Amino acid sequence: MQKLQLSLAIIKPHAVKNPVALSYIRNVIKNSFIVVKTRRICLEKETAEDFYKEHIQKFFFNRLITFMTSGSIDLHIISHTNAVKLWRKMLGPTKVYKAQFEEPNCLRGMFGISDTRNVAHGSDSVTSAEREIKFFFPEFSFYDWHTHDEITYR
Ligand code: PPS
Repeated sequence: MQKLQLSLAIIKPHAVKNPVALSYIRNVIKNSFIVVKTRRICLEKETAEDFYKEHIQKFFFNRLITFMTSGSIDLHIISHTNAVKLWRKMLGPTKVYKAQFEEPNCLRGMFGISDTRNVAHGSDSVTSAEREIKFFFPEFSFYDWHTHDEITYR
Protein backbone atom coordinates (compact mmCIF):
# COMPACT_ATOMS: atom_id res chain seq x y z
CA MET A 1 0.00 0.00 0.00
CA GLN A 2 1.36 3.43 -0.94
CA LYS A 3 0.38 6.66 0.77
CA LEU A 4 -1.21 9.23 -1.48
CA GLN A 5 0.05 12.82 -1.49
CA LEU A 6 -1.96 15.91 -2.41
CA SER A 7 -0.91 18.96 -4.41
CA LEU A 8 -2.62 22.04 -5.77
CA ALA A 9 -2.55 22.80 -9.49
CA ILE A 10 -3.71 26.24 -10.62
CA ILE A 11 -4.25 26.71 -14.33
CA LYS A 12 -3.48 30.37 -15.01
CA PRO A 13 -5.78 32.78 -16.93
CA HIS A 14 -4.06 32.69 -20.32
CA ALA A 15 -4.16 28.87 -20.36
CA VAL A 16 -7.83 28.79 -19.27
CA LYS A 17 -8.61 31.11 -22.20
CA ASN A 18 -6.74 28.91 -24.70
CA PRO A 19 -8.97 25.89 -25.56
CA VAL A 20 -6.12 23.83 -27.05
CA ALA A 21 -3.84 24.37 -24.06
CA LEU A 22 -6.65 23.84 -21.58
CA SER A 23 -7.84 20.59 -23.09
CA TYR A 24 -4.25 19.27 -23.31
CA ILE A 25 -3.47 20.23 -19.70
CA ARG A 26 -6.72 18.72 -18.43
CA ASN A 27 -5.93 15.43 -20.18
CA VAL A 28 -2.44 15.37 -18.72
CA ILE A 29 -3.87 15.92 -15.24
CA LYS A 30 -6.66 13.37 -15.70
CA ASN A 31 -4.26 10.73 -17.00
CA SER A 32 -1.58 11.24 -14.36
CA PHE A 33 -3.39 12.04 -11.10
CA ILE A 34 -6.53 11.31 -9.15
CA VAL A 35 -8.46 14.58 -9.41
CA VAL A 36 -9.93 15.09 -5.94
CA LYS A 37 -11.66 18.44 -6.43
CA THR A 38 -11.89 21.07 -9.16
CA ARG A 39 -13.18 24.62 -9.05
CA ARG A 40 -13.12 27.57 -11.46
CA ILE A 41 -12.86 30.99 -9.82
CA CYS A 42 -11.96 34.60 -10.57
CA LEU A 43 -9.43 35.87 -8.04
CA GLU A 44 -10.15 39.15 -6.28
CA LYS A 45 -7.11 41.44 -6.00
CA GLU A 46 -6.97 41.10 -2.19
CA THR A 47 -7.17 37.30 -2.38
CA ALA A 48 -4.38 37.15 -4.98
CA GLU A 49 -2.21 39.46 -2.86
CA ASP A 50 -2.78 37.25 0.15
CA PHE A 51 -2.00 34.05 -1.76
CA TYR A 52 1.23 35.46 -3.20
CA LYS A 53 2.24 37.50 -0.12
CA GLU A 54 5.63 35.76 0.15
CA HIS A 55 6.55 37.53 -3.12
CA ILE A 56 5.44 41.01 -2.04
CA GLN A 57 8.99 42.40 -2.21
CA LYS A 58 9.68 41.00 -5.68
CA PHE A 59 9.87 43.36 -8.65
CA PHE A 60 7.22 41.29 -10.44
CA PHE A 61 4.62 41.27 -7.63
CA ASN A 62 2.20 43.81 -9.18
CA ARG A 63 2.53 42.20 -12.60
CA LEU A 64 1.79 38.79 -11.12
CA ILE A 65 -1.30 40.06 -9.26
CA THR A 66 -2.62 41.94 -12.31
CA PHE A 67 -2.23 38.82 -14.42
CA MET A 68 -3.71 36.38 -11.92
CA THR A 69 -6.81 38.58 -11.56
CA SER A 70 -7.20 39.09 -15.33
CA GLY A 71 -9.47 36.08 -15.93
CA SER A 72 -10.71 32.78 -14.58
CA ILE A 73 -8.33 30.27 -13.06
CA ASP A 74 -8.93 26.53 -12.64
CA LEU A 75 -8.03 25.00 -9.28
CA HIS A 76 -7.41 21.27 -9.01
CA ILE A 77 -6.60 19.28 -5.91
CA ILE A 78 -4.61 16.41 -7.36
CA SER A 79 -3.40 13.21 -5.78
CA HIS A 80 -0.60 10.76 -6.51
CA THR A 81 2.00 9.00 -4.42
CA ASN A 82 4.44 11.71 -5.58
CA ALA A 83 1.95 14.48 -6.45
CA VAL A 84 4.05 17.54 -5.54
CA LYS A 85 7.20 16.61 -7.44
CA LEU A 86 5.42 14.94 -10.34
CA TRP A 87 3.23 17.99 -11.12
CA ARG A 88 6.22 20.37 -10.83
CA LYS A 89 8.20 18.09 -13.15
CA MET A 90 5.36 18.08 -15.68
CA LEU A 91 5.22 21.89 -15.50
CA GLY A 92 8.95 22.36 -15.97
CA PRO A 93 11.02 25.40 -14.99
CA THR A 94 9.28 28.62 -13.83
CA LYS A 95 11.34 30.65 -16.29
CA VAL A 96 9.84 30.04 -19.69
CA TYR A 97 13.03 30.63 -21.71
CA LYS A 98 14.58 27.81 -19.68
CA ALA A 99 11.53 25.59 -20.19
CA GLN A 100 11.49 26.19 -23.94
CA PHE A 101 15.20 25.57 -24.44
CA GLU A 102 15.86 22.87 -21.89
CA GLU A 103 12.57 20.97 -21.57
CA PRO A 104 10.43 21.80 -24.63
CA ASN A 105 8.02 18.93 -23.92
CA CYS A 106 7.04 20.16 -20.46
CA LEU A 107 3.77 22.13 -20.14
CA ARG A 108 5.57 25.47 -19.73
CA GLY A 109 7.80 24.66 -22.68
CA MET A 110 4.74 23.96 -24.81
CA PHE A 111 2.30 26.67 -23.67
CA GLY A 112 4.31 29.19 -21.63
CA ILE A 113 4.52 32.75 -22.95
CA SER A 114 6.50 34.53 -20.22
CA ASP A 115 7.58 34.11 -16.59
CA THR A 116 4.19 35.55 -15.62
CA ARG A 117 2.11 33.67 -18.19
CA ASN A 118 3.77 30.35 -17.46
CA VAL A 119 0.68 28.11 -17.71
CA ALA A 120 0.14 26.82 -14.20
CA HIS A 121 1.16 26.84 -10.58
CA GLY A 122 2.20 23.84 -8.54
CA SER A 123 2.73 23.64 -4.78
CA ASP A 124 6.45 23.45 -4.01
CA SER A 125 6.23 21.11 -1.00
CA VAL A 126 3.75 18.94 0.89
CA THR A 127 3.47 21.68 3.53
CA SER A 128 2.75 24.36 0.91
CA ALA A 129 0.22 22.06 -0.73
CA GLU A 130 -1.68 21.72 2.54
CA ARG A 131 -1.64 25.50 3.12
CA GLU A 132 -2.69 26.28 -0.46
CA ILE A 133 -5.49 23.69 -0.47
CA LYS A 134 -6.83 25.12 2.80
CA PHE A 135 -6.57 28.62 1.29
CA PHE A 136 -8.74 27.83 -1.72
CA PHE A 137 -10.84 24.96 -0.33
CA PRO A 138 -11.41 25.84 3.34
CA GLU A 139 -14.16 23.21 3.53
CA PHE A 140 -11.83 20.41 2.38
CA SER A 141 -11.33 17.74 5.02
CA PHE A 142 -7.82 16.30 5.02
CA TYR A 143 -8.95 13.84 7.67
CA ASP A 144 -11.72 12.40 5.48
CA TRP A 145 -9.38 12.28 2.51
CA HIS A 146 -6.71 10.37 4.42
CA THR A 147 -9.22 7.70 5.42
CA HIS A 148 -9.07 6.82 1.70
CA ASP A 149 -5.41 5.90 2.03
CA GLU A 150 -6.21 2.27 1.56
CA ILE A 151 -6.59 3.00 -2.16
CA THR A 152 -3.62 1.38 -3.84
CA TYR A 153 -2.41 3.64 -6.62
CA ARG A 154 -0.10 2.14 -9.24
S1 PPS B 1 11.28 33.34 -7.32
O1 PPS B 1 11.80 34.54 -7.95
O2 PPS B 1 12.17 32.18 -7.42
O3 PPS B 1 10.83 33.56 -5.94
O4 PPS B 1 10.02 33.03 -8.12
P1 PPS B 1 9.31 31.66 -8.25
O5 PPS B 1 9.13 31.00 -6.91
O6 PPS B 1 10.01 30.88 -9.30
O7 PPS B 1 7.94 32.16 -8.78
C1 PPS B 1 6.94 32.63 -7.93
C2 PPS B 1 5.76 33.06 -8.73
O8 PPS B 1 6.07 34.31 -9.38
C3 PPS B 1 5.92 34.19 -10.78
N1 PPS B 1 7.04 34.88 -11.43
C4 PPS B 1 6.91 35.97 -12.13
N2 PPS B 1 5.83 36.71 -12.42
C5 PPS B 1 6.04 37.79 -13.17
N3 PPS B 1 7.23 38.16 -13.67
C6 PPS B 1 8.34 37.47 -13.40
N4 PPS B 1 9.51 37.87 -13.88
C7 PPS B 1 8.20 36.31 -12.59
N5 PPS B 1 9.06 35.39 -12.11
C8 PPS B 1 8.32 34.52 -11.40
C9 PPS B 1 5.95 32.74 -11.11
O9 PPS B 1 5.15 32.49 -12.24
C10 PPS B 1 5.41 32.10 -9.85
O10 PPS B 1 4.01 32.02 -9.88
P2 PPS B 1 3.30 30.66 -9.43
O11 PPS B 1 1.85 30.94 -9.48
O12 PPS B 1 3.79 30.36 -8.04
O13 PPS B 1 3.71 29.63 -10.44
